[in-house]
Amino acid sequence: MSRRPVNPARRFADGGSIPFVGSVQSKTRSTRLLSIGLLVVGAILLIGYLHSGSDGSIREKEALSKTEGGSSCTLEVLRALPILKKAYGDSMNKVLHVAPDSCSVVSKLLKEEDTQAWGVEPYDLYGADVNCKSLVRKGIVRVADIKFPLPYRAKSFSLVIVSDALDYLSPRYLNKTLPELVRVSADGVIIFSGYPGQQRAKVVELSKFGRPAKLRSSSWWIKYFVQTKLEENEAAAKKFEQASTKRSYRPACQVFHLKPYG
Ligand SMILES: *[C@@H]1O[C@H](CO)[C@@H](O)[C@H](O)[C@H]1NC(C)=O
Repeated sequence: MSRRPVNPARRFADGGSIPFVGSVQSKTRSTRLLSIGLLVVGAILLIGYLHSGSDGSIREKEALSKTEGGSSCTLEVLRALPILKKAYGDSMNKVLHVAPDSCSVVSKLLKEEDTQAWGVEPYDLYGADVNCKSLVRKGIVRVADIKFPLPYRAKSFSLVIVSDALDYLSPRYLNKTLPELVRVSADGVIIFSGYPGQQRAKVVELSKFGRPAKLRSSSWWIKYFVQTKLEENEAAAKKFEQASTKRSYRPACQVFHLKPYG
């Protein structure tokens, strides 16, 4: 009796049986090696994919914002973290970051020793990756409308860092939101805000907000702080500037440092 090579597709169509079970005996050594090879390749691809998950998304967005000729101040916070550490020292141990894509900053902070970090995503989680969804599931990152009081007690965090989010608020809401950020901070608030005329990354603009950012000048902000009785933290600002100069760091966003309530 001669053995015909088994055509799995044919067998499937004919008898409806599962080809790999039915054809075990006719499987040659080479096909077995082939399937082991495929398994190995698959495993390598899977490991590679899982590895790229955390940093890959940042790089992707960075690339995207470059190609669109725009920028995001949340990316700027990522770049500024070493400088902020220099300027704020131990105050960087319990941080709340409020921003679209705060997952990126929170993940990075959580990798550092002695650093606790939480995030508030002011809009939605459109396009959030697996890592971000897991932070949300654990309650580390929350989705919360920052036009309403924040669900935290006074001075819950050593520092509050906010990027991009305030640029989308009208003064009426800024009047509510900014004092809230100050309230939940023990050592101050750091604001990263776009320069007027700066192109924003389209991905942030359209998917998250549905309205364009209002990028205000430095003099507008300073006048606003005075009007709303929020005090700038000159000592921290000076340290931040010194650390920036030392490392030849030039922020692509405006950075303001506010004092906590007394
Ligand atoms: C915001 O608050 C300041 C200071 O309390 C006030 O002068 C200003 O009119 C307020 N702006 C709006 C739009 O409510």
